[in-house]
Amino acid sequence: MIIVRTIAELQKKVAETKQQGKTVGFVPTMGYLHEGHLSLVNEAKNHDDFIVMSIFVNPLQFGPNEDFDRYPRDFERDERLAKSAKVDAIFYPDVKEMYPRELSSTITVHKGVNALCGKSRPGHFDGVATVVLKLFNIVQPTRAYFGMKDAQQVAVIENMVADFNLSVQVMKCATLREEDGLAKSSRNVYLSDEERSEAVQIYASLRQAISQIEAGERNPVMIKDQINDLLHSKTTGIVDYVEVLAYPSLNVIELIQGEIIIAIALKFSKARLIDNITVTV
Ligand code: PAJ
Repeated sequence: MIIVRTIAELQKKVAETKQQGKTVGFVPTMGYLHEGHLSLVNEAKNHDDFIVMSIFVNPLQFGPNEDFDRYPRDFERDERLAKSAKVDAIFYPDVKEMYPRELSSTITVHKGVNALCGKSRPGHFDGVATVVLKLFNIVQPTRAYFGMKDAQQVAVIENMVADFNLSVQVMKCATLREEDGLAKSSRNVYLSDEERSEAVQIYASLRQAISQIEAGERNPVMIKDQINDLLHSKTTGIVDYVEVLAYPSLNVIELIQGEIIIAIALKFSKARLIDNITVTV
């Protein structure tokens, strides 16, 4: 596994790889790797010959009061984990390498950002789309792998790829969970023991909602109310949102039908956790 810190070096390596007729699989991350990230690498290895993982905590996607400085970082550990997952190249640029000067153009995302995380994190998806476009242009991957844990991010990236005719295939990967159902996340380390045990209620309430839909419930308000009640009564977290929307458009629905997403964001004292389930009714 090689570690590449400059754009020029990465471009050279990818060009050589493609000349050998190999496909390039790309897994963009912000590091502090966990098995969720590594499951994307595993999926990439099923399809592609040469796997590039980027590790870059992107300042553009953090709001002024968000956790950019506090975002957990441990490159040595990441390096070990990436190597064990058989990543071929880690692209690990610093902020100066990615943003040597103030950007004169950025992407503004119009669709699918007035709901979920886009609503409570204004500008977040503009920052995500801008860095992912840069990364796609640098890495020139055959396929890029994203987790459905961040389902809104997947929708935003798929729209961007279509809007700008990017020649990359977006691969959606299932959310990897702890044994008790909590979605694996770099932010889970910030939970107190009490919050960690309460956090299982996020997935439990999503599962309960799915059972209700399977039993015939079609009213999104009923589903949202029950999830809210459960989270209020069984956790000390503050509900940021509970939504039942069409997926991937993220349009508001009055009736549960077609592909939908049930999504939750719950704020604990030092971590805001998100999770979701998509289901076709
Ligand atoms: P990050 O939060 O590090 O996540 C990197 C990728 O790992 C994303 O595609 C995310 O959906 C996926 N992922 C996270 N937890 C997962 C889990 N439990 N199971 C499966 N996949 C999981 O998402 C970002 O970074 C950034 O916004 C990025 C796309 C890198 C742009 O900066």
